[in-house]
Amino acid sequence: MSKSSPKSTLYYGDYLKLPTLLSAQGPESARHGRGAHDEMLFIIVHQTYELWFKQILHELDRVQADFGGEVVEDEYLGRIVHGLERINEILKLLIQQLEVLETMTPLDFLDFRDFLFPASGFQSAQFRLIEIRLGLGRGTRAEYAGKSFDATLSDADRARIAAAEAGPKLVDQLDRWLSRTPFVHRPDYDFSREYRNAVQSMLEDDAARVRANQAMSPTQREAEARGIEESLAEFQAIFAPASDPSPWQMSRAAVQAALFIIVYRDRPVLQLPFRLLAALMNVDELLTLWRYRHALMVQRMIGVKIGTGGSAGHDYLRETAGKHRIFSDLFRLSTYLIPRSRLPKLPRELEDAMGYRYTAEPSGR
Ligand code: HEM
Repeated sequence: MSKSSPKSTLYYGDYLKLPTLLSAQGPESARHGRGAHDEMLFIIVHQTYELWFKQILHELDRVQADFGGEVVEDEYLGRIVHGLERINEILKLLIQQLEVLETMTPLDFLDFRDFLFPASGFQSAQFRLIEIRLGLGRGTRAEYAGKSFDATLSDADRARIAAAEAGPKLVDQLDRWLSRTPFVHRPDYDFSREYRNAVQSMLEDDAARVRANQAMSPTQREAEARGIEESLAEFQAIFAPASDPSPWQMSRAAVQAALFIIVYRDRPVLQLPFRLLAALMNVDELLTLWRYRHALMVQRMIGVKIGTGGSAGHDYLRETAGKHRIFSDLFRLSTYLIPRSRLPKLPRELEDAMGYRYTAEPSGR
């Protein structure tokens, strides 16, 4: 029976296209007649990254489709969180995977590095798609050798990047979803007023404590107190009229809702939204960890040499780790959390509305 017959049994190697996959390693050093043992590891590690990037994009497809509607169905929310948590497990693996590559020493790398110019991980289109679909904007990117980040990509890859730039970003989808959060403004309870008062008094107490702290020099006291007052101004901007300029990237409604979800996260109805925010912060944090970890590995491999893609190498990469953040507003909110003991008490009606309470049906027997 021929292998293509519908009755043929599925064969492991065919299903996984192993002949294609396992013949896709073509070391440049061998092509140049100077075979370098470690180039195989270098290729396989990069290929594995690209496979995982593909899986991350596949997860993002569903997360963004679920998140993209006018209304996010309740049953989709669990699936969105699950997808993001899966992405985070993959990112952890990607950070750890650099250790395998680091079994190659800088001298081993030099055996084939010259054959790689001008190719570089900088040209990973899938990595760019992940960044863009999460919400990293062109204007936020670190300067790279005076060129735009997609200047050295093929036409086909540049077209994929342009399509993603024109498409939905997770950060905007999150904003719209957060802005629709119920419970934040009600006739019987206005979260923004109640919480604003509580945080304001906490920060004013902090500033007074600093000003009375004799262990600090007057200059230190003044600088610390001014820092707290600046935080207070940033916090008040969350509640300012929409026409005022805002230091926040997210809309005011979204920031208020995120704060509400974070501080009242123990209420049953807010537990899943809270896990969603935590998962997004983990995506941001793990991507940043990857950037730092990759930058350190690069420093160890090439010191201060330029990258094969022509950037300032380690310095450029370290800058991206600080600058290429996506959900930074969620991190900034931690400044404005207050102890549970100082949280404004919610009216009973609102607590009931946010709880899951089932009364047993009278059995009638
Ligand atoms: C010996 C190992 C490696 C070295 C020396 C290295 C070096 C560099 C350098 C110098 C850059 C900056 C651009 C340039 O001038 O080329 C860069 C960017 C990049 N590399 Fe690597 N890399 C290594 C391994 C990897 C691996 C395993 C991956 C996984 C896919 C990777 C992915 C990337 C990405 C995505 C960028 C762009 C980062 C950004 O622009 O934010 N690199 N690499």
